[in-house]
Amino acid sequence: MIGRDLLGIEDLDREDIVRILDTAEHMVEIGEREVKKVPTLRGRTVVNLFFEASTRTRASFEIAGKRLSADVINFTPSASSLKKSESILDTARTLDAMDPDAVVVRHSVAGVPRRIADVLGAPVINAGDGAHEHPTQALLDALTVRQQKGRVEGLTVTIIGDILHSRVARSNIYAFRKLGAEVRLAAPPPMIPAGVECLGVKAYTSLREALDGADVVMALRIQNERLGGAYVPSIREYSATFGLDRAKLDFAKDDVIVMHPGPVNRGVELSHDLADHRPSVILDQVRNGVALRMAVLYLFAGRATTPGSREVAGGAG
Ligand code: NCD
Repeated sequence: MIGRDLLGIEDLDREDIVRILDTAEHMVEIGEREVKKVPTLRGRTVVNLFFEASTRTRASFEIAGKRLSADVINFTPSASSLKKSESILDTARTLDAMDPDAVVVRHSVAGVPRRIADVLGAPVINAGDGAHEHPTQALLDALTVRQQKGRVEGLTVTIIGDILHSRVARSNIYAFRKLGAEVRLAAPPPMIPAGVECLGVKAYTSLREALDGADVVMALRIQNERLGGAYVPSIREYSATFGLDRAKLDFAKDDVIVMHPGPVNRGVELSHDLADHRPSVILDQVRNGVALRMAVLYLFAGRATTPGSREVAGGAG
């Protein structure tokens, strides 16, 4: 069964993932109502603790909490006592003393959410830690694929780009493998982590081979902020070889879908045309991000709710 915290997809088993996705389907339905709000988490407090920049993830956790009627507090480190040298763990303890029901953490250093979880009473949800994991992104990606294709099992998913520095890639590898998809990676050799085959995936340096027969293609941004060195000779060369456009997409299946977690570097990993039009499902991913995070908050922050009051789809209010 699902544990107290959501720190990574590595810790989940297939049943946990399916349960979260099934719950998210109910949340999609709430998002389609005229009044997109239910009282499920009324009286509960969700703290967003983002030490690193974020647009989609932070906004969607906030909207998700509000749609479930939780009180959502956005904690901005630049305006806090962290500026006065208070340690992250002391900040976490201080927030914990205010009795939140869940704390959502993003940090540039891998492992920080786990360290915070060690000192907190409340469940911790990892919203991305360094190059380690970004579990809610992988779950919303799996939800999007399941909606678009009707299943995940048996599909071929090709992930292209800076795999080495990408927490999105790592979490997606775990998620799609656990759900029974074949996962292929395509990148210049320095961007493929050593020993990645142990995760049950195959790495390609030929994009054409990696795309052959693919059902789902996911393009990733080069993580310039985590590079610390030159991994590609030039962006132009990278884009010519690994940047996705309609011509290259011809190698994939006719009904392929194109995904990207955002933010997109247009004209680098994805052509302008593909960034905006089908078969890209980028905005479906963003939309599903809200529903998926509602499901996660419901399952992790709603724990102590009295039996019977945790019905989701029922009570619009
Ligand atoms: C990703 C992230 O922050 O890891 N973005 C996101 O959460 N949607 C991907 C990225 O920054 O490239």
